Amino acid sequence: MSTLPTYRIAPSILSADFARLGEEVRNVIAAGADWVHFDVMDNHYVPNLTFGPMVCQALKPHAKKADGTPIPVDVHLMIEPVDALAAAFADAGADLISFHPDASKHVHRSIQAIKGKGVKAGLVFNPAEELDVLDWVIEDLDLILIMSVNPGFGGQSFIDSALRKIEAVRKHIEASGKDIRLEVDGGIKTDNIRRVADAGADTFVAGSAIFGKSDYKCVIDAMRVALG
Ligand code: DX5
Ligand code: ZN
Repeated sequence: MSTLPTYRIAPSILSADFARLGEEVRNVIAAGADWVHFDVMDNHYVPNLTFGPMVCQALKPHAKKADGTPIPVDVHLMIEPVDALAAAFADAGADLISFHPDASKHVHRSIQAIKGKGVKAGLVFNPAEELDVLDWVIEDLDLILIMSVNPGFGGQSFIDSALRKIEAVRKHIEASGKDIRLEVDGGIKTDNIRRVADAGADTFVAGSAIFGKSDYKCVIDAMRVALG
């Protein structure tokens, strides 16, 4: 690439204290979060169950810096089917909505429905999922999210084959000539984030690595130092 990527760190509130979510969102933004990652699980597409559009709507006013600058709410849908709840999350203030292509019967239609709401659209690929669908929809995407764990739970270990997949997606993005974010999700820590960036990722979800420590800023700062 001719220009240096702008890295983004997107803490996943899946590992935050659910009894204090608004405060957790404010605290992690004060600590330097670029985006807030919001993991939606339905006990159907994945075995776990988290939160819905009403919680997103309640948290939206907290997704800003102390000076009022808004911080994007990055909604990762692990739900099947996709379309009705994607629309509800758009209405609830999501800035980006990503879904898994195997959870939608009509992937192109789901992307258009999200974009039709004025929200950025992303596709998410599980560790064993092929990338073929990108050949047909990449020009419509704002974000590609590579899972480096199987979806459903925080605190899992990074799956190394994700690095090869990130490299492949980076090539697809460069060939498309489009401005598409390449995000990675699962098992990201201060000691592997550099390798993931070297493979081609520019946006990093981190849940347990950040919320598992008492000093969020210390972790985010260490990630930025590792990114250089
Ligand atoms: C897993 C979620 C992740 C999760 C990552 O299904 O999509 O966003 O919060 O958690 P860590 O960073 O702990 O692997
Ligand atoms: Zn996620």
